Amino acid sequence: MNKVFSTVTLLVATVASTLLPKDVSAESSACTVQAWVRAEDLAPEHVSHGELRIKVLQPHCAASIASVALRLELNEFGEVKHLRPGAVIPEIKKTDNQTLRDNPHTLYDYGPYDKAMSDPALWFVKAEERTAWSTEATLFENNPNFSRPLVKPFIVASPAVNYPPSFVHYRQIDTFNLVKRHAYSDLGYHYTAVVNFTDGRTVHLPAGHTTFRPTYTRPLAPTPFSWNSTFLMHHETCMADLPQTKEMLALREKCLPESLRSAFIAEVTLEDGYAVQRGKPLKGRVTVHATNGSTQMSDISLAFYNNHHTSWALEYATTGGDPDFYKLLCQYPDVTEIISTDYSSYLFNEERSRNAFYNSPPILSRSLTAGEPSWDFELPIPTTAVPHFSSYYGTTVGALVLNLAVVYPRDVADCIRGVEKANDDSDPEYIMLNAEEGLWDSYTPVVAPIPSESERLWERTLYLQAVVPLNILGEISEQQMDHYLTPGQPSPTLLISPPPDRVAFSIARPVTAEEPLANTSARLMPSKGTFNPYHFEDNFDDYYNWRAAPDPAAHYNQGNYAGLLWKKKVVAEERGILPKTTQGEGNDDDSQHPFVVMP
Ligand SMILES: *[C@@H]1O[C@H](CO)[C@@H](O)[C@H](O)[C@H]1NC(C)=O
Ligand SMILES: *[C@@H]1O[C@H](CO)[C@@H](O)[C@H](O)[C@H]1NC(C)=O
Ligand SMILES: *[C@@H]1O[C@H](CO)[C@@H](O)[C@H](O)[C@H]1NC(C)=O
Ligand SMILES: *[C@@H]1O[C@H](CO)[C@@H](O)[C@H](O)[C@H]1NC(C)=O
Ligand SMILES: *[C@@H]1O[C@H](CO)[C@@H](O)[C@H](O)[C@H]1NC(C)=O
Ligand SMILES: *[C@@H]1O[C@H](CO)[C@@H](O)[C@H](O)[C@H]1NC(C)=O
Repeated sequence: MNKVFSTVTLLVATVASTLLPKDVSAESSACTVQAWVRAEDLAPEHVSHGELRIKVLQPHCAASIASVALRLELNEFGEVKHLRPGAVIPEIKKTDNQTLRDNPHTLYDYGPYDKAMSDPALWFVKAEERTAWSTEATLFENNPNFSRPLVKPFIVASPAVNYPPSFVHYRQIDTFNLVKRHAYSDLGYHYTAVVNFTDGRTVHLPAGHTTFRPTYTRPLAPTPFSWNSTFLMHHETCMADLPQTKEMLALREKCLPESLRSAFIAEVTLEDGYAVQRGKPLKGRVTVHATNGSTQMSDISLAFYNNHHTSWALEYATTGGDPDFYKLLCQYPDVTEIISTDYSSYLFNEERSRNAFYNSPPILSRSLTAGEPSWDFELPIPTTAVPHFSSYYGTTVGALVLNLAVVYPRDVADCIRGVEKANDDSDPEYIMLNAEEGLWDSYTPVVAPIPSESERLWERTLYLQAVVPLNILGEISEQQMDHYLTPGQPSPTLLISPPPDRVAFSIARPVTAEEPLANTSARLMPSKGTFNPYHFEDNFDDYYNWRAAPDPAAHYNQGNYAGLLWKKKVVAEERGILPKTTQGEGNDDDSQHPFVVMP
């Protein structure tokens, strides 16, 4: 009943910033217009082909559009909430009234603390959006006849500059609802149809999003890479200032002093170095070195993680007087993947098998013991891994994450549970199912039973984590591309087909706009809700308010991915569903169209 280690479990919910297509229609004078873009991904020194489709729903509106231009922008978003210099968060005190008889927990008054967490005198919040570049061309003009949907080709020429890849990103919302220290960033390449009506009105229609594929130079001859990492408890700092967490940690320290626990160190050797190309396996060996303490390792698991860190927020917080910002940042790893057609392979599978649809990150696991502490592994790195890239607000990093289950002695568990020595016989670590019993039901398979871990063993397990950094590479190119944040870089240009021989690129002129403070505060400093872990269900109502708060990044990478619609066209042509029109080889993802840039 008193599960000390799991009382302050944080439930994490996420809000997808992608997936659901947005309504892409606009009305002016009762005319509904819809816009779609299908286009190849962008890449350095390449021409990407695309098509804009415009549909006008009402027949009487066929002639009410004067012109349609197509705009492509790289939008970036950053957001931070940090403690102001010298700000003091009030302590959470015991309530005067501890008379709730049935409640085994101490009662605390969270009032002043909850209020402080959204107090602008204590917290600094800021959010801004940066348009790195914007390019536009008029595709329909002179009052075209839209009695039928019209499709117009265009191209996007990109200079020899690496722009960031676009990724699937999730905003984290936890059931505490309230936001403590906070950092978030996102980016997206957005197509917008700018529709001019004959009555003089202009309407902007989101028409899809795309991505950029930066290229990397091949690493020099790969040399093995070794890395030692100490296994640590993770996520405990998240609520370290809450009295319930402190009680739990103090009790554990009393029963299982850290100085007596074994220390575990992972020694990892990666055969081909830490620069890894996605889609290839990561080969290596892990050896866990343990000191002779009171805890014992059992299972280890390996997984690949891709995270997006908001380095801009860290910079803001540390220079703004919150030196502990990143240490106390209570955020969970957000597994990130590139925007890619790989998610949608089921659309192209004629058998309509959905097997390929689920793209869960690969995890390997096995048991390790002090006598057999090494493991040679081969972990597949997903093709959807985001290559290492630093953008204006954040950096995407890859990591090999090792999770180690560590078991502590039974008397420690009894101490933590606050009971006298339990009766050993009634408390087995492994439960053997009774084989004979299983023959008398209609669901147990007829196999020799395998021992399964008892709940008591799980209860006296700590989970430790060690991390090895990886440098994930995208497409390889012989040429070293400039990084887009180097001053004076040219930016992609949207043009009417066919591709010209020479493209006059213009220099990117980023425009940054700060979000109104009231909007940022509505999102990051909600006026209601509590941090009390025993009352987090009080926050459920606010969870929906929170989601309703304005969010400039909410539309990032929503709606159609232009690259997926392009692939549908290419596959439809291959299968004779559409007549063949595609220029170039263009029948797989990687076939972009190189061209020569003239000075
Ligand atoms: C103390 O708690 C009990 C039980 O909830 C309640 O009946 C009583 O009114 C409380 N007393 C004060 C002074 O808040
Ligand atoms: C527009 O096109 C439709 C069908 O192609 C035709 O019937 C109609 O007359 C055209 N309207 C104008 C104003 O040209
Ligand atoms: C569309 O309307 C806007 C605003 O009136 C104007 O600036 C733009 O030049 C127009 N586009 C075309 C292609 O006429
Ligand atoms: C890792 O630790 C082992 C054992 O202590 C040591 O032999 C090795 O040199 C260390 N490797 C690195 C890269 O520090
Ligand atoms: C570890 O410590 C235990 C108890 O102190 C002792 O019995 C055991 O021999 C030690 N093992 C090693 C490998 O030193
Ligand atoms: C700020 O929030 C209001 C109300 O939600 C919204 O109407 C407005 O567009 C937002 N402003 C910006 C710049 O996002």
